[in-house]
Amino acid sequence: MPILELVGVGKRFGGLTAVNDVSFSVDEGEIVALVGPNGAGKSTLLKAIGGMDPPTDGTIHLDGAELAGLKPHRARHAGVAIVLQTPRPFETMTVRENAALGALFGGVGASEAEALRQADRMLEFVGLGERRNEPVATLNLHEQRFLEIARQLGGRPRLILLDEVMAGLNDSELSHSVDMVRRARAEFGLTIVWVEHVMKAVMSLAERVLVLNFGRLIADGPPREVMTQPDVVTAYLGDRAVAP
Ligand SMILES: Nc1ncnc2c1ncn2[C@@H]1O[C@H](COP(=O)(O)OP(=O)(O)OP(=O)(O)O)[C@@H](O)[C@H]1O
Ligand SMILES: [Mg+2]
Repeated sequence: MPILELVGVGKRFGGLTAVNDVSFSVDEGEIVALVGPNGAGKSTLLKAIGGMDPPTDGTIHLDGAELAGLKPHRARHAGVAIVLQTPRPFETMTVRENAALGALFGGVGASEAEALRQADRMLEFVGLGERRNEPVATLNLHEQRFLEIARQLGGRPRLILLDEVMAGLNDSELSHSVDMVRRARAEFGLTIVWVEHVMKAVMSLAERVLVLNFGRLIADGPPREVMTQPDVVTAYLGDRAVAP
């Protein structure tokens, strides 16, 4: 059953077409990677789905209900969470307080006490349990991304959109993160669409890969098939090497 359906989605910034006529659907419980060279339109597309910046064309449905054009908090209440490329935590709050915001404002109607309990659970889940009482500024960029995942999980989304959350991790951190995403699906019944440049993570975690190039969807299929497809290899040449 598709949970997410995009038909003819486009996004223009003035004269620039960042996303062009993109159509695909995602089944409930799938883990889908969205890949493509720098500037291909991946973040733009993710933000359009997550209500951060609406598309200029097309329709986006979550369980048959229109998402395109919903404000971020409405998209969140509809069950979509997004973790952006650059996390922006509230600097004056602790890790735990930041994490609690997800349940407080995520549309689950949690009380403050419930939100803090949820925060503790999600921080444990992403491996930041012991850091919960620290000021958020003590976290490095990777940890701030995982805090953001914990915060978004607190809102109990059905679909989570992740933008390059594994960038810059070392090998053991990477395999830990891949495992964490898989467990998140199993434990919280999530559907996951995630933008990724780290091919190792894509090949080990994705069940399906979508490839964007100059705003267009040029491939949609199993990782090994897609990443060896000639036009996909060409799209990556001169940018980042593909090593499936
Ligand atoms: N707010 C904006 N205003 C104008 N142009 C934008 C805006 N956001 C993105 N763009 C342009 O749209 C295109 C797609 O950008 P986007 O950030 O979606 O690419 P990306 O695939 O996520 O790239 P990367 O892998 O580098 O993160 C780029 O040419 C970018 O400069
Ligand atoms: Mg991006």
